[in-house]
Amino acid sequence: MDTTHLTKFYKKKHTDKIEALYLAGVISKKEKETLLNRTLELDSETGNHLIENYIGNYSMPLGVAMNYVIDAEEMVVPMAIEEPSVIAASSFAAKIIGSAGGFNTEVTQRRMIGQVTLKNIANFEEASRKIETAKQDILSRANEAYPSIVKRGGGARDLEVRILKDDSDSGIPTFLSVHIHIDTQEAMGANIVNTMMEGISPYIEELTGGTALLRILTNYATECLATATCVIPTNKLKTATFSGEEVRDRIIEATQVATIDPYRAVTHNKGIMNGVDAVVLASGNDWRAIEAGVHAYASRSGQYRSLTTWQKNDTGDLVGELTLPLPVGTVGGAISIHPGAQLAHSIMNHPNAHTLERIIVSVGLAQNFAAVRALVTEGIQTGHMGLHARSLAISAGAKGDHVQQVADILKHSKHKNLQRAKNILLNLLEEFDK
Ligand code: MEV
Repeated sequence: MDTTHLTKFYKKKHTDKIEALYLAGVISKKEKETLLNRTLELDSETGNHLIENYIGNYSMPLGVAMNYVIDAEEMVVPMAIEEPSVIAASSFAAKIIGSAGGFNTEVTQRRMIGQVTLKNIANFEEASRKIETAKQDILSRANEAYPSIVKRGGGARDLEVRILKDDSDSGIPTFLSVHIHIDTQEAMGANIVNTMMEGISPYIEELTGGTALLRILTNYATECLATATCVIPTNKLKTATFSGEEVRDRIIEATQVATIDPYRAVTHNKGIMNGVDAVVLASGNDWRAIEAGVHAYASRSGQYRSLTTWQKNDTGDLVGELTLPLPVGTVGGAISIHPGAQLAHSIMNHPNAHTLERIIVSVGLAQNFAAVRALVTEGIQTGHMGLHARSLAISAGAKGDHVQQVADILKHSKHKNLQRAKNILLNLLEEFDK
C-alpha cells in the first residue's frame, strides 16, 4: 500500500477519494469502476434469494478509516455506518495511536460453542458422568454430522457439561447443558454448529434419559476472543486547554466511572460498538450476534462494566486494552454474495478470520479512545456538530456545493437545527438567483 496517495483523504472530492484508493493499491481497477459507477448494490435476484419477501435494498454509507497500524501493518479499514462522526473519530484516533507504534493484538484459538440443553433429567450427576465417558463418541458423531468441516481441517474438539441450577426461589427447574467446542475454520459457523447439535442430540438423549429442548450455538463466544492494546505517550495527548498528563488521567478516570456505573458503561461500550459494528457490517458478518456476545462479556463479573481498560504504565504513558468475543468469519453467509462485503474484504487485503478479529478489536479500542478523549476535553459536540451540520444541510434540501456552504454557516450559528439550515439554504439560493 502506498499511503502517500491517502494524505488529507477526507478533504478530497468523492471521485478523487476513489482514485486515491486505486493509486494507493487499496482497490483494484474493477473495484474503482464499481465505486464510480455506483454498482455496489445487491442485485434484486440475489436479494430475492437471500431473504423472504424481499422488496429492495436499504443502503448505508460505506467509508474507510485511515491511519490504522495493526501489528506493524498499515491498514485502511472499511466501515458501514450512518452516524456522521464515527469514521472521522476512528481515523483521528488511529493517527495518534499509529504515531505511537499502533495496535498490538492477540487472539485465542477460534472455537465456537454449540449447546444441547436437556430437560427431564432424573439424576444430574449420573447423566454428566455418562456424557463425559462418551466424550470421544459424541465428538465423532458431531463430526459425522458435518464432514466437510472436518475435511477443511476443523471439527468438534472438546466437550463440557454444565448443570444449570437456579438457586433463587424462581421455581425454574434444573437443566443440563452439553457444550461442544467446534473449530469452524474461516466460517462464523452457525450452520455447522447447529447441524452438529441437532445431529448429536438423539444420542445425548439416549445416554441421559433426558429430552433435548434446545440444540443451537451460543453467541456468547467465550472461546473466540481478540485483544488489542496500545501505548500512547502523554505528548500525543495534549490539547489547547489540557496537558497530556491531564488528558491521560481524565481518560483513566472516565473509564473508572464506566467500570463501576452501568449507566455510563452502556454509553462507553456503545462508543466501542460504533467502530466494531461498522466493520462487522461492512465485512458481511452478523452484527446482532457480535452485539449480543459483547454485552454478555461486559457483564461477566456479574455487573455490566466498561469493556476497555485505560491505565498508566511506569513511564507515565496511557495504556489501553480491549478484549472482545469476535466470532466473525471470512466465508459463508452474506460474505460471498454481497458486493459491498466483497469490496470490504478486498480493501482489508482479504484477511483470514483471525486477522479480521484483530482489525475489529483495534477499531473498537480506537473508537473508545476517540470518544472518551473528546468527552473529557472539549466535549463531543464540537466535532459532532461539524459533521452533523452536513446531515442537517442535506435534510434541509441542500445539493452539491451548497451542502458544505450551509454546513459551514450552520457550524457558526447559535441554533444548529433543521429550521436554521433551511433558512441558510434559502438565503444562499436567493443570493444565487440575484
Ligand atoms: C456516540 O455515538 C458515542 C459516545 O456517546 C460514546 C461515549 O460516550 O463514550 C460518544
